[in-house]
Amino acid sequence: MPTPTLKLGLISAMAQEQAGLIDSMPDSHTISRGMRDYVQGTLWDTQCVCVLSRLGKVAAAATAATLIERFGVTHILFTGVAGGADRRVRVGDIVIAEQLVQHDMDASPLFPRFQIPLTGLSHFAADAALTERVALAVSAFVENDFRLAIDAADQEQFRIRRPRVHRGLIASGDEFIDSRIRLAELKLALPDLLAVEMEGAAVAQVCFEFGVPFTVIRTISDGANEDAPIDFIAFMERVAARYAFGIARRLCRTAQD
Ligand code: ADE
Repeated sequence: MPTPTLKLGLISAMAQEQAGLIDSMPDSHTISRGMRDYVQGTLWDTQCVCVLSRLGKVAAAATAATLIERFGVTHILFTGVAGGADRRVRVGDIVIAEQLVQHDMDASPLFPRFQIPLTGLSHFAADAALTERVALAVSAFVENDFRLAIDAADQEQFRIRRPRVHRGLIASGDEFIDSRIRLAELKLALPDLLAVEMEGAAVAQVCFEFGVPFTVIRTISDGANEDAPIDFIAFMERVAARYAFGIARRLCRTAQD
């Protein structure tokens, strides 16, 4: 990586979304803080701190704040899975956040729906430079690595031909969305919405408040509909880590194939 001072905080909610990364850190050492293990070391050519936040906005916010205050990370990347929230966004596609919103924040009528009280903000923008870098890594993974990284049987089972990459709005809330009606309600309020998950916008708020550049990438595991719980579990078991590992490898290695 060309930034000599980069110290990247890599957060995922669950172990299946980060499997293999820690084994790729030859010099890793672990420090436990607030019931989480922060694994520091060199990931390919990049200084990283890898951690699992667990699910939900509070867990993600506590993890991001600790990465910044205790571990001095300069940038944060959240990787994981999400439910697709648009007809064009299919299982196996990748969504790169440009904006993030907390869809369950509603202090109306005191403040407009979605606005984080006393900040004047509802949408948090991902860092443009970091997002560009991540987008290059995602493209390199899709174009060069995907076919070998994901078993042919899994490509078939999840009907992933060539993953498409989308950029736009991700919404987070303390809710697993598994209903077409609930998703339609969210789409009515947030028509540009591409994906729903449970952590990204909380990390975004913390990073905004601390002035730390961040971005979020999500692989689509399900359609946030009635099939979502089963699709989510199958995708987590078989595929999620392969995407996260492949993209992180492309991002953290200076020398590319
Ligand atoms: N993460 C993955 N799928 C999700 C869904 N349907 N709702 C919330 N978070 C998710």
